[in-house]
Amino acid sequence: MKRKLLLVALFAAFAMVLSSTVAMAAPILIKFSHVVAENTPKGKMANKFKELVDQRLAGKVEVEVYPNSQLFGDNKVLEAMLLGDVQLAAPSLSKFKKYTKKLQIYDLPFLFKDMKAVECFQQGPKGQELLMSMKNKGLIGLGYLHNGLKQLSANSPLRVPADAKGKKFRIMSSDVLAAQFEAVDAMPLKKPFSEVFTLLQTKAIDGQENTWSNIYSKKFYEVQPYITESNHGVLDYLVVTSVEFWMGLPDDIRTELKKALDEAIAYGNQVAAEKAVADKKKIADSGRSEILTLTDAQRQQWVDVMKPVWKKFEGEIGKDFIDAAVSCN
Ligand code: LMR
Repeated sequence: MKRKLLLVALFAAFAMVLSSTVAMAAPILIKFSHVVAENTPKGKMANKFKELVDQRLAGKVEVEVYPNSQLFGDNKVLEAMLLGDVQLAAPSLSKFKKYTKKLQIYDLPFLFKDMKAVECFQQGPKGQELLMSMKNKGLIGLGYLHNGLKQLSANSPLRVPADAKGKKFRIMSSDVLAAQFEAVDAMPLKKPFSEVFTLLQTKAIDGQENTWSNIYSKKFYEVQPYITESNHGVLDYLVVTSVEFWMGLPDDIRTELKKALDEAIAYGNQVAAEKAVADKKKIADSGRSEILTLTDAQRQQWVDVMKPVWKKFEGEIGKDFIDAAVSCN
């Protein structure tokens, strides 16, 4: 009987040691949640990050990628991040207004001439300063990822601002974007990305603004007969994590993860540049949507009515930031 008890005790002790060893060795889990399709700059960047981490930190870190708003939409993901339910995300720069007003700079219409100017600002001192603009709210920007310039799509041709009058446009959750559409007497509606296709298809809204890769991958062009190549604003991303998660990582792991992320972002940026051309061509070739190019005079009309929006937000953003962006053009 005594021997039996001893054996049971030994077995229990062994099981305890084993389970604590297993617990110690459990990999750090990174859930990366995003809202777009996998075949987009962000989708490909996220998958590349997973691939690099699998290669370099196997057994130590595990990355799970959730595309297409499967885990969280952009309206919930940052709250979830602060609760520790998700560790990485890359919402559009237009979706941070609850946490900082400074990032609103990226929504100012006609601020950047092209993606080279966007890159110049982001990598310059002011752009880098913005990565830390939400640190006191518990969020850190780990880097910028490009998607590209936005185009206007609608169920009727938009050549001059008067064509947009009275029309309903879906926008991301940004007050600058609301002001931009109000400036042309249109009606902006803040809606999650996951709802846009249905809203367009059912004609609950008349149009929306987005990049070529989003218009293509989410099939907006199949339900929007006209796309105006307006290049009126930028849609880029902030790869974001929580201070608590990031600073709680062992130093060597954090360094490796940042390296993998930088490489994945460089790859994603390359994909973004390629898709801005290729997805536009696929849309044009489909014949489902007519792509309208603006004359200089038509484009100037949009600039003239939308640019006054800058003044409205200058106080919240900071004139020094706007000047730095303009100097990149
Ligand atoms: C949108 O909501 O239109 C975009 O932010 C989607 C995305 O992440 O590209």
